[in-house]
Amino acid sequence: MKILITGNMGYIGPAVVRRLRASYPQAQLVGLDIGYYGNCITNTESLPERRVNIQYFGDVRQLPNDVVNGVDAVVHLAAISNDPIGNKFEEVTLDINYRASVELAKKAKIAGVRSFVYASSCSMYGAAEDSAKTERSTLNPLTAYARSKVLTEQGLEPLASRHFKVTALRFSTACGWSDRLRLDLMLNDFVACALTSGRISILSDGTPWRPIINTKDMARAIDWALSRDPSAAPDFLAVNTGRDDWNYQVRDIAQAVATAIPGTRISVNANAPLDKRSYRVDFGLYKKMAPDHQPEIGLMECIQELKSGLESIGFKDGDFWNSQYTRLKVLMGMMEKGLLDSQLRWTGL
Ligand SMILES: NC(=O)c1ccc[n+]([C@@H]2O[C@H](COP(=O)([O-])OP(=O)(O)OC[C@H]3O[C@@H](n4cnc5c(N)ncnc54)[C@H](O)[C@@H]3O)[C@@H](O)[C@H]2O)c1
Repeated sequence: MKILITGNMGYIGPAVVRRLRASYPQAQLVGLDIGYYGNCITNTESLPERRVNIQYFGDVRQLPNDVVNGVDAVVHLAAISNDPIGNKFEEVTLDINYRASVELAKKAKIAGVRSFVYASSCSMYGAAEDSAKTERSTLNPLTAYARSKVLTEQGLEPLASRHFKVTALRFSTACGWSDRLRLDLMLNDFVACALTSGRISILSDGTPWRPIINTKDMARAIDWALSRDPSAAPDFLAVNTGRDDWNYQVRDIAQAVATAIPGTRISVNANAPLDKRSYRVDFGLYKKMAPDHQPEIGLMECIQELKSGLESIGFKDGDFWNSQYTRLKVLMGMMEKGLLDSQLRWTGL
């Protein structure tokens, strides 16, 4: 078994590699990453990439054909991974997230890869409505990032076949500790705010819905997708990945953090314009298809995991939005130093 994992050097990647290393001890794991956040290590005794057998440093926009040779399965995580970067680099986001993803899948299919697991996102549901979104609900992507996820699924679907299974895992918003922590994700941000300033400021009226999932549970889902029976239908599967009872309103998430970290004050901007990115999601299909791989790490446990992780590194940076924990800041910092060009390609400096 040879598994190619793109984007393995980001926030979710280390948990995925650790999980696959444990599930497939004999497998050859191959990582491929451009390395934007390579030095944004949180606190780990050794480089997370030591768990892969081969690590490529490369850009998914310029993949050599042979990178998929002999590969049985691809786990595709590499992407511009949030709205702020997507808004600033719209065309680059479409290039990396959409066009390069479909090209990678085409190469993989030609090379005889049997399973392609794609890290999609529930953010494609976009705007609030009363009912929870199922996989058949209308998609309403509101940002370049969310659009890139929709376009990629649409590009992948026609490639799927009996011999090339495609699983698009539409993940909830990620949270939890990582060897390459991000604090530009809602729950992670709230915990860091509570610890450093004792205050959470919600930039909306607090009512938007957001389902959450721990990175280890995302890895569990990827493991499930890889083990999906090759002979079973459908060839293309898009599935909401999370748990029904982990749909939360933003104010409830803030309240849970305040409960876990006593003394935290919450301010809600009651006059804020409605945050249109609000979605409650129906995870019934995932529950039915993957009963043994259901998410296990709930909200309070995620908060405790983040709290003890941040405390263990003596985290005190009240200005963490301008630090290595914020993906956009890292990229802008490297651009200012001339290391990345306007297309987010390494300049060679
Ligand atoms: N974090 C979330 O809440 C969440 C939710 C749903 C889906 N996802 C998806 O999961 C995947 C991983 O997310 P993450 O939170 O780990 O993001 P991340 O930004 O931490 O990691 C993304 C990785 O992709 C790499 N990458 C970016 N452009 C590349 C390119 N051109 N060539 C090669 N590598 C490239 C980066 O260097 C980075 O290591 C993404 O596809 C993201 O859209 C994330």
